[in-house]
Amino acid sequence: MTTETTTRGETILDARGVTMRFGGLTAVRDVDLTVSSGEIVGLIGPNGAGKTTFFNCLTGLYIPTEGEVRYKGAVLPPKSFKVTAAGVARTFQNIRLFANMTVLENVLVGRHTRTKEGFWSAVLRGPGFHRAEKASRERAMELLAFVGLAPKADHLARNLPYGEQRKLEIARALASEPGLLLLDEPTAGMNPQETRATEELVFAIRDQGIAVLVIEHDMRFIFNLCDRVAVLVQGAKLVEGDSATVQGDERVIAAYLGEPFENAPGAEEVAEVEAAEAAQAETAEAAEATEAETEAAEAQAEPSTDAAPGKESDR
Ligand SMILES: Nc1ncnc2c1ncn2[C@@H]1O[C@H](COP(=O)(O)OP(=O)(O)O)[C@@H](O)[C@H]1O
Ligand SMILES: [Mg+2]
Repeated sequence: MTTETTTRGETILDARGVTMRFGGLTAVRDVDLTVSSGEIVGLIGPNGAGKTTFFNCLTGLYIPTEGEVRYKGAVLPPKSFKVTAAGVARTFQNIRLFANMTVLENVLVGRHTRTKEGFWSAVLRGPGFHRAEKASRERAMELLAFVGLAPKADHLARNLPYGEQRKLEIARALASEPGLLLLDEPTAGMNPQETRATEELVFAIRDQGIAVLVIEHDMRFIFNLCDRVAVLVQGAKLVEGDSATVQGDERVIAAYLGEPFENAPGAEEVAEVEAAEAAQAETAEAAEATEAETEAAEAQAEPSTDAAPGKESDR
């Protein structure tokens, strides 16, 4: 889909030392990640691990507190439309379509970084729009056919079922003719058939020469699809490797099960909590022991008559 020909294996996205802090919270911690042309890379991790925040750092929505993101050798500009123009397109975890526009119009809007006419012309459909949009329309229809939505080109976006809205988002992202596509939970809310179809769609996108970086919770989807998978836990990259390596890594399993493991990000905090709990337990035991001793001492000190059996019920 991109006119540029890149040989597979060449690094196109190079994120180095990306850190994103919100006040006291470090949402992304010193993350390095590369994506090569022709590659499908997965980004997984428990909820709140920092995956979407990392995407936002890659796409100019956030300016990372530290670190640098390069695409095809150039540092990406800190503005999302410029990042799109540079060749990195994305979809969002929460669908962001123009609900009251048609399916076709949504894709045309996605082309605004590639056409002279620009965004407002596409939205307002001024004379420039009508003059220049024939080629754009053809391309948009091609993309709709590619994702399987051509028959619904004239439907309003809001009337599409959920799974089709996700497809439309992908078509819109492709309309900017990216070299790299970032997908944030593309199968969220989909049934198994739709998920399977999305898998095929991502393979087809890769076969068009577009590299893909995908966040997803559906592990079957991720491990079927990805050449390489990186695991984020509490903002830091824990493991990276091919599907088999990541699936077999006990730290990844532990991260998903929520068990602490050696040298994990956050392990220090877990250790602190455990130490505090242990200290509390010790104090409680010590207190109980002291109480028992005191009672024993009191019992001894008491006159023998008081300690006599049967006396207790008389009080
Ligand atoms: N704009 C923001 N301001 C403050 N905290 C944020 C912001 N965006 C995300 N976070 C926090 O960063 C952490 C990572 O969130 P997110 O990247 O959405 O995780 P994921 O996509 O892996 O589920 C969470 O603790 C979240 O509350
Ligand atoms: Mg997210």
